[in-house]
Amino acid sequence: MKEITLNDGNKIPVVGFGTYQSVEEDGVQSIKNALKTGYRLIDSAAKYENEEEVGKGISESGVDRKEIVVTTKLWRENLGYEEAKNAFEKSLKKLGLNYVDLYLIHWPANAKNYTNWQKANAESWRAMEELQAEGKIKSIGVSNFWQEHLEALFQTANIIPAVNQIEFHPGYWQPELTRFCKKNGITVESWSPLARGKVFGNEVLETIAKQHGKSVSQICLRWVIQHETIVIPKSSTPHRIEENINIFDFELSEAEMKQINDLPEMGFSGELPNIWPDVINVKN
Ligand SMILES: NC(=O)c1ccc[n+]([C@@H]2O[C@H](COP(=O)([O-])OP(=O)(O)OC[C@H]3O[C@@H](n4cnc5c(N)ncnc54)[C@H](OP(=O)(O)O)[C@@H]3O)[C@@H](O)[C@H]2O)c1
Repeated sequence: MKEITLNDGNKIPVVGFGTYQSVEEDGVQSIKNALKTGYRLIDSAAKYENEEEVGKGISESGVDRKEIVVTTKLWRENLGYEEAKNAFEKSLKKLGLNYVDLYLIHWPANAKNYTNWQKANAESWRAMEELQAEGKIKSIGVSNFWQEHLEALFQTANIIPAVNQIEFHPGYWQPELTRFCKKNGITVESWSPLARGKVFGNEVLETIAKQHGKSVSQICLRWVIQHETIVIPKSSTPHRIEENINIFDFELSEAEMKQINDLPEMGFSGELPNIWPDVINVKN
């Protein structure tokens, strides 16, 4: 599997396995299927309420723990120094592991939900820097951070995030934010690379897929990795799990990349980090 070296020197596979909605026994099974198929990056989150399933899938897979890059995330309601430390320990326990490879702030605090959003992010980050220094986390990063959130974090951070996991698929790929991340040495990781199924049926993608003898899914995932970005498709279907990792025997031309880059908005989740969700509980 091709890997990317992060700004902290750790390596990460370019294709990983998403686990949103992978719960209970089906979830365990799909994680085992993914590992059996060759995935070595698993993306989970406290919010997905499946860290136990991820831990079980890993231990039952027979794959050496050291070979797997395990990601989990700090939920937005647990931002802050003490809160982040407590939430991390809970995640570690649920996963049944003694370290996590990649820990991300799932969503930034924003002005709608925090009177001092900069502080909430900065304090969470300080906790994560300490956990990394203690060896409990290999790499620390963020998710859904826009340039404004990153620039604010840079004011107090000792460590630049290794990763920013953002919505990135044909029809919504945040090119300016991607450029900003690259310029600052932050690797972009693409969530919902298939726009949760909304890319299917697009004529441009179907034509390119036919030309390469590949599926629309493989075209989307290949397009993501040719942007030097990590991709984490989710599937519970064994043949799709396999299909989604078989994207290394063809290449999209520059013209095809541009055609996909230029597709009009399609499949945007509507989740904007500076205003989403509506105010639920304003915190200091
Ligand atoms: N950081 C964040 O805020 C954030 C937000 C969203 C997602 N994520 C992460 O990113 C991962 C991926 O995103 P996602 O789960 O939202 O959506 P996605 O990967 O874009 O799409 C998943 C959907 O596509 C279907 N699918 C997968 N492979 C297919 C194929 N080859 N052909 C046809 N259909 C296919 C799956 O169906 P089946 O399962 O039925 O096969 C599922 O319904 C998540 O699981 C999660 O780990 C992170």
